[in-house]
Amino acid sequence: MNKAIDPAVLAVAQEGSAHPHSMDAYWMPFTANRQFKKAPRLLAKAKDMHFWTPEGRQILDGIAGLWCVNAGHARPKIVKAIADQAAELDYAPPFNMAHPKAFELAERLVQLTPAGLNKVFFTNSGSESVDTALKMAIAYHRARGEGTRTRLIGRERGYHGVNFGGISVGGIVGNRKLFGTGLGGVDHLRHTHDWRATPTRAACPSTALNSPTISSAWWRCTTPRPSPR
Ligand SMILES: Cc1ncc(COP(=O)(O)O)c(C=O)c1O
Repeated sequence: MNKAIDPAVLAVAQEGSAHPHSMDAYWMPFTANRQFKKAPRLLAKAKDMHFWTPEGRQILDGIAGLWCVNAGHARPKIVKAIADQAAELDYAPPFNMAHPKAFELAERLVQLTPAGLNKVFFTNSGSESVDTALKMAIAYHRARGEGTRTRLIGRERGYHGVNFGGISVGGIVGNRKLFGTGLGGVDHLRHTHDWRATPTRAACPSTALNSPTISSAWWRCTTPRPSPR
């Protein structure tokens, strides 16, 4: 059941409901665009573990954004840290120059990771990370004189992002079938996941589509299913 909505939150959320702009220009990823734009599901505000729609409906965010807001939305300590840093030094080029805190973060990550993982390369997304890792693997063997070791092995149904390397080693055919041959020398092992256990969209209760909770089940029900390989 919804908790009472903070009037300040509601006011901001309702302000967001006035969206006079056309929805044509924004081409949404992994979304049936025409269908979405006929009946948009907009989120206007977030706090802790909830979203609010522009109409003020509260939704439990059971998947932490897109698995990336694990500490909760709009935490004052995090909001302040972001604002303070932007005011002090918002960006420093990393080519032959550097932001001092990049070194500090890298050192702290090394302390957290298992022994042997002692170098940090920063990227902007999971997709960029995957493509960079593939490049590093190939370059590593080349640097040690085994330049013929170029084959990459992925798994059926594996998701490794949206760039060419990631869709090539990834095992979701629907994500790569329109984009040509992709990387050469890639093979796929069988997946470990029984796709028959994943509910199809048809099997999803209609209530799931308007559920007050965004969860993994909601995600499966509202996301177009990739075709099995
Ligand atoms: C295993 C894996 N690789 C790559 C990605 C792509 O990350 P991003 O969406 O940040 O590009 C994801 C995202 O869920 C992922 O789970």
